Amino acid sequence: MLKRSANGSYILLELPYGGQALPGQFFTITTSLGPYIPRPFSVYDLKDGRISFLIKSGGEIEKFLDSAPVIIDGPFGNPLPELKDPLLISGGVGYAPIHFYISKYGLGELVAGFSDEELFDFVDIPDHSVSVFDPVTPVDVAEFSTLQNVIACGPVEMLKIVKKILGQRSLYLIMEEKMACARGMCEGCAIMTSYGVKFVCKDGPTFKALEVDLEWTYL
Ligand SMILES: Cc1cc2nc3c(=O)[nH]c(=O)nc-3n(C[C@H](O)[C@H](O)[C@H](O)COP(=O)(O)OP(=O)(O)OC[C@H]3O[C@@H](n4cnc5c(N)ncnc54)[C@H](O)[C@@H]3O)c2cc1C
Ligand code: FES
Repeated sequence: MLKRSANGSYILLELPYGGQALPGQFFTITTSLGPYIPRPFSVYDLKDGRISFLIKSGGEIEKFLDSAPVIIDGPFGNPLPELKDPLLISGGVGYAPIHFYISKYGLGELVAGFSDEELFDFVDIPDHSVSVFDPVTPVDVAEFSTLQNVIACGPVEMLKIVKKILGQRSLYLIMEEKMACARGMCEGCAIMTSYGVKFVCKDGPTFKALEVDLEWTYL
């Protein structure tokens, strides 16, 4: 089942799924007609034998989703750690793994950032959380929280600010990189860490912020 947000900028893809997955893990998605390289998406929700993904529209996969059977593969990657009273921070569709985390483990506090109201109106946001809209960033609010366990997912520019402001706390970042194999073989999703090059698909997608070099680019 495919559900679109008010202006069509976001898609909720829901499929029957009899398997297991944990928050932080992702699946690759393609269809019988393409795209040739399956795309990675975090699990947005998994319950009652159905799995769902929150997809930002405008990419190649969108043009296939309506017209061909969807093929998912996974789960891939390591689950998020289950933390005591975590402060959860999301930016845009980075809310997907945070949503699944909340539905499984609950939360301490949530600050979710949106570029406009379209995505905010489209997703389930728990009561007692804070939502902010550009130009306010989630970090502008999150920095006033006293919670020490923090998980963040969103655009890399947001993660850089999160790390700069909250990097001395127990901070985990969910990284998103372009992927091909999703199995640690093609080296397409390399990032630099204090332990050398690691791969987001196999070693992540969650990393301790202190260990990740967010300025590193693979040439
Ligand atoms: C672990 C993980 C979890 C993710 N979870 C989500 C999620 O829940 N929701 C979500 O919307 N996205 C998520 N992403 C990001 C998503 O996988 C990518 O944005 C993917 O490219 C989307 O596929 P597409 O066909 O929609 O868009 P694409 O056609 O792949 O294009 C998306 C954007 O990326 C650019 N692009 C495409 N290929 C390249 C390339 N090789 N190099 C540089 N730029 C390129 C395009 O120009 C476009 O702006 C996740 C990524 C990872 C690694
Ligand atoms: S996608 Fe191939 S190594 Fe990660």
